[in-house]
Amino acid sequence: MNTKTIKELVEETLFIHQKVDTVPNEFTLIGQGRSAAVFRMEGSPDYAVKVFYPEFKQLAHQEAAVYERLSHNKYYPELVEVGEGYLVLEYLNGMTFYECLVAGIPITPLMVAMVDDALGYARSQGLNPSDIHLKNIMLTNNNQIKVIDVVRFTQDKDCPHWSDLKKAYFTYYQKKYFPKRFAPIFLELIIRLYRKRLLPI
Ligand SMILES: Nc1ncnc2c1ncn2[C@@H]1O[C@H](COP(=O)(O)OP(=O)(O)OP(=O)(O)O)[C@@H](O)[C@H]1O
Ligand SMILES: [Mg+2]
Repeated sequence: MNTKTIKELVEETLFIHQKVDTVPNEFTLIGQGRSAAVFRMEGSPDYAVKVFYPEFKQLAHQEAAVYERLSHNKYYPELVEVGEGYLVLEYLNGMTFYECLVAGIPITPLMVAMVDDALGYARSQGLNPSDIHLKNIMLTNNNQIKVIDVVRFTQDKDCPHWSDLKKAYFTYYQKKYFPKRFAPIFLELIIRLYRKRLLPI
């Protein structure tokens, strides 16, 4: 059997307008963001392959450099390999905070404290944690917190996303009668309003 390399599989992965168009049989889509799609790979269950959309290809080496600075820390996935327009990361078995809210899995103060700890570690490494939103934080199946998507950690500008999320968490989510489960369409609306600065946070 002629096994393809990760590089070959990435080259076979095609996008049209940031939507996945062609995927090799060996890849299964597990997540998507504004700059990349993430796949699991047949025969390598421990890997997640992040393939950047063509216009964001240059981010692969940038993000790899940040992951290298965060390596061997329990809050961040390990970087396995970097190539032209892609990263191979440790696969995280779990859910994003966004998926937790959809499934009604409670987000606890301890989980929030672990995110703070993770971001504190990044700061101690000279980084500036940015773009910390619901889809970039994961709760693994063994109750660990992992922060993913670290490419913007090298920016100079301070990002208010995490402090705003925390404010919303303690002001609303923690209230006894506040719902703990949300429809994706509702969360998407909230995210959109937040990005347009239309929320009183
Ligand atoms: N190592 C991983 N293990 C498991 N799932 C992952 C992993 N990395 C990413 N994912 C999934 O893929 C999704 C997209 O990944 P990522 O956040 O890195 O993409 P992005 O395009 O950089 O996102 P953004 O829109 O925040 O810029 C994540 O929200 C998560 O669901
Ligand atoms: Mg993301």
